[in-house]
Amino acid sequence: MSRLGWERTPDGTFLDLCAGTLDLAADIARRSKFRGRVVGADFVVPMLKLGRDKAAAVMPVGADALELPFADAQFDGCTVGFGVRNLTSLDSGLKEMARVLKPGSRLVVLEFSTPRRWPVRPLYLFYFQHLLPRIGRMVSKHTTAYSYLPSSVLDFPDADQLAAVFRRAGFRDVGYEPVSFGIAMIHWGVRR
Ligand SMILES: C[S@@+](CC[C@H](N)C(=O)[O-])C[C@H]1O[C@@H](n2cnc3c(N)ncnc32)[C@H](O)[C@@H]1O
Repeated sequence: MSRLGWERTPDGTFLDLCAGTLDLAADIARRSKFRGRVVGADFVVPMLKLGRDKAAAVMPVGADALELPFADAQFDGCTVGFGVRNLTSLDSGLKEMARVLKPGSRLVVLEFSTPRRWPVRPLYLFYFQHLLPRIGRMVSKHTTAYSYLPSSVLDFPDADQLAAVFRRAGFRDVGYEPVSFGIAMIHWGVRR
């Protein structure tokens, strides 16, 4: 959360996109010096309803990330946790985030990634491509649910490609760093 820099505007308005059950939004809103509000937006309203009581400063909004119902330059920062991988157009989603952010404010994206280093990479690929779908099928009896996650992660652009999407969308000072041996990646950028 330090990458978001909410401490610069503790009474600001922040956006958590693809917010699901509002855990990340509530995590920001519950910080002791935070005095602002967090709009948690997701297009699956039942998910938002499940999380609506997690923090008073969180405002759930049903919205599509590709067509946000917000004015230009409205937010002091934006977070997306494990959401951008699901967007049908990464470019359109990132441009929409840039549109609603104030110049100088930050976007922070946490997303699954594929580890690059040996031996984590082959172990991870074996688990992800073979073990996880099999165990998932056995436990849940669902034939496709546990294949979606590995295929969507493996098909997702790598960190350099996602950084290029950030730049094209209108962000500067773009960067990323691996989390948990590269299984996830934090990406950030500053709205130009
Ligand atoms: C894996 S969940 C992550 C939820 C939450 N951010 C977290 O970290 O727990 C991905 C979320 O993205 C939402 N999502 C996917 N595409 C979306 C879109 N175009 N607009 C809004 N929400 C979207 C889904 O409804 C889902 O709640």
